[in-house]
Amino acid sequence: MAGTATQPAGTTEPTRRDFIVVAAGAFAAVGAAAAVWPFIHQMNPSADVLALSSTEVDLSQIAAGQSITILWRGKPVFVRHRTEAEIAQAQKDDTAALPDPAKDADRVKKPEWLVMMGVCTHLGCVPLGQQGDFGGWFCPCHGSHYDTSGRIRKGPAPANLPIPQYAFLTDTRIRIG
Ligand code: FES
Repeated sequence: MAGTATQPAGTTEPTRRDFIVVAAGAFAAVGAAAAVWPFIHQMNPSADVLALSSTEVDLSQIAAGQSITILWRGKPVFVRHRTEAEIAQAQKDDTAALPDPAKDADRVKKPEWLVMMGVCTHLGCVPLGQQGDFGGWFCPCHGSHYDTSGRIRKGPAPANLPIPQYAFLTDTRIRIG
């Protein structure tokens, strides 16, 4: 301690500055996380629910054309409020040549809400929304294209994005799991 007290100012100054830089860096990281978290967080009763077997999602704040991603059992679940055009396209494509045939009506409980796992069925990457050749999701890892119903249409993925078990509790609230 005596050593610290007798250190010249020149040797302590860089340390203090380093600390400030580190602290600022840590704060920036927390700030970035916090910017994302409140949006997801408000969709869930509490953070610890994320680890539980089921989670409830408030749909009331998700406008048509918007999606949110929920972490459920450690995996992303996409909840998309589909537009009329997306619904129409998905239903029209029921008769297209589908690698993993499925009717849109069998993949949704209400046409405007598409709830599905955000995990590519090829090797597990997280696809990007509203991209790709079919206006649905695109997995950039190896180029799989999913349509507006989350059905695989092109690329190496063998199957549609899976639909998790979920239920509507009210018109604007679902429970996943
Ligand atoms: S993991 Fe998605 S295309 Fe390979």
